[in-house]
Amino acid sequence: AQEQREKQHTLTSVLEQAGDAYRKALRESERAIAYFKGRGLSGEVAKQFGLGYAPEGWRSLASVFPHYDDPLLVESGLVISTAEEDGADEKRYDRFRDRVMFPIRNIKGECIGFGGRVLGDDKPKYLNSPETPVFSKGRELYGLFEARAALREQGYVLVTEGYMDVVALAQLGFPNAVATLGTACTTEHVQKLFRFTDSVVFSFDGDGAGRRAARKALDGALPFASDVRSIKFLFLPAEHDPDSFIRANGREAFARYVSEATPLSRFLIESAREGLDLNTAEGRAHLSSNAKPLWTVMPEGALKMQLLGEIADLVQLTGRELSELWNPQAPSA
Ligand code: UTP
Ligand code: MN
Ligand code: MN
Ligand code: MN
Ligand code: MN
Repeated sequence: AQEQREKQHTLTSVLEQAGDAYRKALRESERAIAYFKGRGLSGEVAKQFGLGYAPEGWRSLASVFPHYDDPLLVESGLVISTAEEDGADEKRYDRFRDRVMFPIRNIKGECIGFGGRVLGDDKPKYLNSPETPVFSKGRELYGLFEARAALREQGYVLVTEGYMDVVALAQLGFPNAVATLGTACTTEHVQKLFRFTDSVVFSFDGDGAGRRAARKALDGALPFASDVRSIKFLFLPAEHDPDSFIRANGREAFARYVSEATPLSRFLIESAREGLDLNTAEGRAHLSSNAKPLWTVMPEGALKMQLLGEIADLVQLTGRELSELWNPQAPSA
């Protein structure tokens, strides 16, 4: 365990050094500065998030790490090795080239990885660090370290999809935003967030992918939907994400969306009844079948009982009948 901690510390300090080099390269790149300015970022917020730039060229990091062949660089995810099995020539090169860089920090503030965006329209638009001993996408949230004080002050967290959403929201008056890292919001993410706050507002992109992300976040959040927590879902107009929305419409308009966000209970029912005709017995039965697995994973409590009542009304059963249908072996109360 001691050995493992030392290894992790070595990796985070390698990543920190790379982050310093990317920040220096940003100061020296007019193109990268122009990119961030073009997206409306202030120098102040760029500094707060430690944004940088990975220069063009296959081995820019060789000037930062004279021992470019050190296996640590590959382990950290900064360098890609084309190791060939039969001893054919191995080639090494920087993973991040000609990209603006977003350092990802753990809750202690240590650099554990990066997201890098192309300055133009090339694909892939974003490249993330691979899974390493210090970085796991399904566990980490971008911006959590930067947002930690604001979570306490604002009393809630905004969960978004993207790096730019977090940085733009922070600049425009919502310092309490974090983002998943190109993955679905998992139960592990939600569990982590509830260590810092008791109120979560999911704010994904207004497109189809964002709606699907909200559905997945509902699944991840349901086991935590206790009576003393608040979980809400904010749906932006289809063409927007939080970054584009707040830049186009301003802070007040976004705040209105936050205050009108859909509570988990309503989103659960909307999801379960989507596309169904509740004027038919078949439609109502299908709603019951869709809602059951969602409802079942909720923790016991008043919220769960009320939802049972609401769903029972929609399905045109008594609460008792629905409860018996869903918990056939439970002793009747
Ligand atoms: P989006 O495509 O919504 O990106 O992906 P965005 O943040 O709005 O991008 P901008 O505004 O054009 O800069 C949301 C998130 O999904 C991950 C990234 O974490 C991104 O922030 N993603 C997206 C990837 O990992 N790779 C990609 O190629 C695209
Ligand atoms: Mn430093
Ligand atoms: Mn999107
Ligand atoms: Mn965007
Ligand atoms: Mn987006």
